[in-house]
Amino acid sequence: MENLVTIERFILENQPEYAVGDFTYLLYDIALAAKAISAKANRAGLIDILGRAGTSNVQGEQQQKLDIYADQVIRRLCDHTGRLCVMASEENESIIPIPEKYPKGRYVLVYDPLDGSSNIDANVGTGTIFGIFRCKDWETRGRLEDCLQPGRDLVAAGYVLYGTSTLLVYSTGSGVHGFTLDPQLGEFLLSHKAIMLPAQPKYYSVNHGYQSKWSVSIQKYVRWLQGRDGSTFGLSERYIGSLVADFHRNLLDGGVFFYPALDHKPAGKLRLLYEAAPLAFLIKQAGGYASDGERAILDITPTSLHQRVPLFIGDRKLVEQVEYFNRRER
Ligand code: AHG
Ligand code: MN
Ligand code: MN
Repeated sequence: MENLVTIERFILENQPEYAVGDFTYLLYDIALAAKAISAKANRAGLIDILGRAGTSNVQGEQQQKLDIYADQVIRRLCDHTGRLCVMASEENESIIPIPEKYPKGRYVLVYDPLDGSSNIDANVGTGTIFGIFRCKDWETRGRLEDCLQPGRDLVAAGYVLYGTSTLLVYSTGSGVHGFTLDPQLGEFLLSHKAIMLPAQPKYYSVNHGYQSKWSVSIQKYVRWLQGRDGSTFGLSERYIGSLVADFHRNLLDGGVFFYPALDHKPAGKLRLLYEAAPLAFLIKQAGGYASDGERAILDITPTSLHQRVPLFIGDRKLVEQVEYFNRRER
């Protein structure tokens, strides 16, 4: 077995100079949560974890049992360690304060505990997305303001993909690195070092079911991606319906994922804080770009926890092209 590099060893050897333990241990905590969620996701169908929980979240979306389980695992593994001052989750309307009985730390964790959860019962890849900020003010740390930061201020971001294998991909600002969970060892082992987007994109990913609700500029953009109207591209279309799975495939093979504004969803569907911004941080590290169709996702400061934003993310020239089409149509 060639040199076995566990995620713990890699984090320690590559931690940013400012990290003094807390940050490194926080990444360990997230890796442990990923193992616990993976164990449930990989046995879904054998245990009572499939299906709907019979409740809905702040987004008005049907919660799946695994949504709630994943949210609770992350919260319980991270709320008492003294590394965080506050958390924010897709599954929670307001911020998740650190209980009084526990010490407050210097970091903020924002997360989508289970992305693509409508696909669980179909055994299609789902994921967890997370971002880590520093608290803004030590004395007042733990407030909503600590969560409402632009993606540019992230100190780390990543995702876990519960697919054919369980993969944890993260960046602390020095490249994007992937670790595959070895179920026999119970360890995440380095499997994808320094991931960079390929020079030639291969796929575009959008839900064509909403085609009639796209703007004129998006209609033209998709024709351009398909190699029509004189475009030199001719990309294949792949759409899984799990953001993390679609993002990961495009990260490895090259391409663009987008969830645009729709007539009935003027801000699109995806959330800025814990879906778009962490992935925008990662794609920038991998040589790509993420935009809301007008400007960089990383420059947008959230005004609320669950703020939605149109998302175009992947190969820089493909994403800049939609900004061009949008400018032309204004
Ligand atoms: P979540 O399960 O966290 O709510 O996210 C679901 C999102 C995202 O994973 C995916 O890209 C998108 O929903 C798919 O939406 P459509 O089914 O409308 O295409
Ligand atoms: Mn999601
Ligand atoms: Mn989710």
